Amino acid sequence: IFCNASKHQGKFLVQGTNDSSVVSKVSAAAQGYFQDVFLQHFVCKAARRAPLINRGYYVRWRAVDHCVRRFLHITDNCPKRQILSLGAGFDSAYFRLRADEALDRAVVFEIDFPDVTRRKAALINSDNTLRGMLDPHLPSCTGPEYVSSGRYRLLGVDVREESQVEEALSAAGLDWAAPTLILSEVVLTYMETKWSDAVISWTAKLLPQSLFVMYEQIHPLDPFGRIMQDHFLKLNSTLHALLQYPDTAAQRNRFLDKGWEQCVCLDMNDFYFGLVPEEERGRVESLEPFDEYEEWHQKCSHYFILTASRGALMTQALLSQAPGTLSVRTVPVSMEGLGMASTSVSPGQVLLTGGSSRGGRGPATRTLLWGQKGWRSVSVEPSVDLGVRLHHTATSLPGGGVVVYGGRSSPLNPIRGLFRVTLDTRDTVKLCVEQMDCTGEPPAPRWRHTTTAVSHKGKDFLIVFGGKNESEAALGDGYFLCPDQQHWTEIPVEGSAPVARHTHSACSYQGGVVVFGGLDRRGLPLGDTALLRPTDRGFSWERIEVQPPPVPRYSHSAHVIGEKLLVVGGVWLHSDGVPGVVMINLTTRSSVEFSLDTTSVPWPLMLHSFCSELTDSEEPELLLIGGGGNCFSFGTHFNLQPVTVDLRPALG
Ligand SMILES: C[S@@+](CC[C@H](N)C(=O)[O-])C[C@H]1O[C@@H](n2cnc3c(N)ncnc32)[C@H](O)[C@@H]1O
Ligand SMILES: *[C@@H]1O[C@H](CO)[C@@H](O)[C@H](O)[C@H]1NC(C)=O
Ligand SMILES: *[C@@H]1O[C@H](CO)[C@@H](O)[C@H](O)[C@H]1NC(C)=O
Ligand SMILES: *[C@@H]1O[C@H](CO)[C@@H](O)[C@H](O)[C@H]1NC(C)=O
Ligand SMILES: *[C@@H]1O[C@H](CO)[C@@H](O)[C@H](O)[C@H]1NC(C)=O
Repeated sequence: IFCNASKHQGKFLVQGTNDSSVVSKVSAAAQGYFQDVFLQHFVCKAARRAPLINRGYYVRWRAVDHCVRRFLHITDNCPKRQILSLGAGFDSAYFRLRADEALDRAVVFEIDFPDVTRRKAALINSDNTLRGMLDPHLPSCTGPEYVSSGRYRLLGVDVREESQVEEALSAAGLDWAAPTLILSEVVLTYMETKWSDAVISWTAKLLPQSLFVMYEQIHPLDPFGRIMQDHFLKLNSTLHALLQYPDTAAQRNRFLDKGWEQCVCLDMNDFYFGLVPEEERGRVESLEPFDEYEEWHQKCSHYFILTASRGALMTQALLSQAPGTLSVRTVPVSMEGLGMASTSVSPGQVLLTGGSSRGGRGPATRTLLWGQKGWRSVSVEPSVDLGVRLHHTATSLPGGGVVVYGGRSSPLNPIRGLFRVTLDTRDTVKLCVEQMDCTGEPPAPRWRHTTTAVSHKGKDFLIVFGGKNESEAALGDGYFLCPDQQHWTEIPVEGSAPVARHTHSACSYQGGVVVFGGLDRRGLPLGDTALLRPTDRGFSWERIEVQPPPVPRYSHSAHVIGEKLLVVGGVWLHSDGVPGVVMINLTTRSSVEFSLDTTSVPWPLMLHSFCSELTDSEEPELLLIGGGGNCFSFGTHFNLQPVTVDLRPALG
């Protein structure tokens, strides 16, 4: 099993290791932060560290363990899988995983400098427990190999020497095609950036099915970061690459630039709060008296855990982005437009009307049809021209057909008239358009309003609510249309109506409507939620208090699924980033914000003046279509393709 090392055994046995990270991990394990009965065999003298240090090593251990377990889980069905630990030092992962019987069909390769490796081999050799974890019948050692056991190969090579590493790994039996986890826990930062960049590139090049897991420092220049840098400078182990890759976004781009297909990078606050279950956090937080919150949060913000993947299988092993993130994918259909209206006509059929596209002209009326090859876009020739129409509504009626209402051509020209359209997709796609001549008291023409199906005494109505016109900054009135009788109807409404608004959302909900957000008369975004509930006499408005209150926004879209209201995209003021999705539980009146992971969208996704529909696929999914806008004098942006949003994390 042991090569070259035995003759030095005496010396190394006495010496043990002083590697402070190992001593600290042993301390954290002794205090119950995590279980590792093997690590203590690598230290000469156990020391008890302060609670802050224990927590810091706990979160590091937990992050790496999380990724390793995830990798072993998703490769569980693979005939062979490998862990390649770069700069493994005195890491005990092999022994721990072996004892947990987690290494079926897996081999752990460790690389470190020859002198470190030699010491580690000697330590293992001299320790009955560690030695007992090796397989008795072994291939013989070759070259820089210091331990060669069935599932454990310890190699002494400088990681910077690519060809030597490649040769040593091949000789030690690494299968370049097998799924491989490459682990670098505070290692690459100790070499000059050109070397660490090279490691990131050659691993991507040589291992087509792999997951790179890296843990190290970021944010070198803020006060904490400067103390951190000085500390390592004094230890003669300068931290490299920090200035070039100072934050999680830069680290992500680094991996994507160097041949990795996908990458997720979280700082340790995000990891801790996002991926350590609340119960587990409660457990570790009660282990020792602790009140150094400032230091703990700052420490966590200066370290990250990163996963980068190559190959489809490995995508599943990426740190599932902080809960709170929904992934977005493009739909391979080119379709753009601002201020269009959409409605789902029947399963797999979305009708899009109006809007403006490049060149300023309104796009033709189109449909998105779902078929065996996914979505395709088909233009339709309406029997009557619907005209240039922005910020209007298209609402499917429960009994079939679509009502197209309102909108404007220019801000001085609202569009009058109401159309009932029916989509015929039997042979060619045709749109039958009929003007509706309605009796009763019609609303003043408007745009940026909503038109929503409600039900009153068993009959279907549409309610037009809010919007704006030439003279009013925002409208707060509501009108009921009975589409069957083509009549604007009065229905008694009790309670106080939500304030006047436009560019809000209004979704059908339990026979009534749920209204969210919009811009008020003063031009400020709203974040309120109001319900219009059916009553015996008519309807009644009720304001619902949602906790925590969602950040006010407008120009979003919204959908109800069961008891949940999902508000998507829009524009908000004063907040970082752009709105993603807020999920409001209408029963518990609680809200959760999700951000959108748009890393797979190659162009900027701008979610305003867009439309959205729930798809009828098995997984809950939203289809977002069109959107964008003028970016001041910098140019007009159009989202180039529809995208889908995977709603699973929001629906639980
Ligand atoms: C801070 S220790 C981390 C050890 C281990 N990954 C852990 O987290 O417990 C850094 C390790 O990287 C190793 N290392 C640094 N540069 C290396 C290089 N160029 N080639 C191989 N090992 C290297 C060091 O010898 C040391 O064992
Ligand atoms: C371990 O640390 C002690 C105290 O700092 C020092 O005296 C000793 O030389 C160190 N041993 C090794 C092997 O580094
Ligand atoms: C760092 O290196 C310098 C110069 O080689 C040496 O004088 C100093 O003792 C070293 N410091 C440590 C902590 O090893
Ligand atoms: C705008 O809407 C309000 C409220 O419905 C109405 O009173 C007003 O006449 C409208 N203005 C125009 C120019 O139509
Ligand atoms: C919403 O609240 C209800 C009632 O408490 C609960 O059963 C349901 O699980 C909640 N839904 C979500 C997604 O949190």
